[in-house]
Amino acid sequence: MNKFSRIGFIFAAAGSAVGLGNIWKFPYVTGEFGGGAFVLVYLLCIVFIGLVVFIAESFLGQSSEVNVSSTFIKVSKSKNSNWKYGGFMVFAGLIILSFYSVVLGWILNYIVLSFGNLPNSAELAGSGFNQLVSEDIGLQIVFHSIVALITIFIVLRGIKEGIEKINLILMPLLGIILFGLLAYALSLDSFSKAVSFMFSANWSKIDENALLAALGQAFFTLSLGIGTIMTYSASLPKNENFIKSSFYVAIVDTSIAIIAGLIIFSFLFEAGAQSSAGPGLVFISLPVIFGQWGTLGNIIAISFFSALLFAGITSAVSMIEPVLMLFIERFNMTRKKAVIICGSIFYLLGIIALLSMSNAFKDSLTFFGKNAFDWMDFITSSVSMPIAAIVTCLFLGFFVDKQTIQNKFTQHVSIGMFNIWYVLVKYIVPLAITILLLNKLGVIQ
Ligand code: TRP
Repeated sequence: MNKFSRIGFIFAAAGSAVGLGNIWKFPYVTGEFGGGAFVLVYLLCIVFIGLVVFIAESFLGQSSEVNVSSTFIKVSKSKNSNWKYGGFMVFAGLIILSFYSVVLGWILNYIVLSFGNLPNSAELAGSGFNQLVSEDIGLQIVFHSIVALITIFIVLRGIKEGIEKINLILMPLLGIILFGLLAYALSLDSFSKAVSFMFSANWSKIDENALLAALGQAFFTLSLGIGTIMTYSASLPKNENFIKSSFYVAIVDTSIAIIAGLIIFSFLFEAGAQSSAGPGLVFISLPVIFGQWGTLGNIIAISFFSALLFAGITSAVSMIEPVLMLFIERFNMTRKKAVIICGSIFYLLGIIALLSMSNAFKDSLTFFGKNAFDWMDFITSSVSMPIAAIVTCLFLGFFVDKQTIQNKFTQHVSIGMFNIWYVLVKYIVPLAITILLLNKLGVIQ
């Protein structure tokens, strides 16, 4: 049977969770919302919402051992075939992957640049990044193609030979690099400043936007809402403790986000740079700092961007696998055919995404004030993923036999723990996500 080993599953799920969300996005969002208080809100979202949904997805996958669409039919009380539409969520994976691959392409470009002269002023770094995004279409297509090919190559080999293997290689490498960077950050005077920025609460910037950002980030970083965890758990051996592994993954994921934050803020504060630079933080602010450190700076830059690349590749494969498994099982496709179809879709969408940011095409690829890249982000993070999470929770709460769930949970945890989780999944989490979703869509203020 083509299943993960226990450790292979934890590495693969952690590899999926740890990605650009941890190393690129978490630090800049934390910076924008002023540090400590945001980190606290984020941690609460991870524990009381993210982890609850993570365990829900993991339960569903391990119970059914099939693709997302068939899972809903198989686990439901009614076995009604209309539950197959629950599989809609996997398509968000292809959309996310398309722009994720473009961003990974930028990172690949920065690895190459890190071997040469780094920019020595913020203006230069800023215009370099702008040039890449708004003018260098060909270069972006080349790097996006390389990332797409690597992703396709890995998933072609399947769960065990492809996904498990690459995670067993890249995750330890990522750990070593981050450990080295952390050791260097610890040696800087600014490390203590970074610690107090991330852990002392500043509530002035915490409003509903911060709450939304924290929840969105918790979802994205735990790879929820497109069926990744369900799909990976379908290949988790039957008797493994899915609750314990969920906790492990959440702990690893959160620790890496915090470590990445400490590293990046130590570097920024050392150079007296701003913590609130937004998405350009790692592409503009950091290269300038690396540039001031001479050859050591080149080495650190190469290590840092490689860490981002490794983290991103193990996430990329996890975005396409749910849709592949669905195509293979429900439409009786060979893996090769499914990979060719899904690979072409995300590759082309990625090209549309990158063109929509270029000066040459942005006007024709902007609709209702948002370019295609932002639309893809919006449709996935603000629409499809929250809806998928609500559907998953309500499904478990109202359409699956409670005793069946309880029996499986109490093999691993006490009945008290099960009851807490059950109330959260049935009422609290769907309600919280609904409120935030309506808020985000502007339905309620
Ligand atoms: N968790 C990854 C990150 O933080 C991204 C990711 C991988 C993802 N698989 C996913 C996000 C599935 C949403 C859904 O970068």
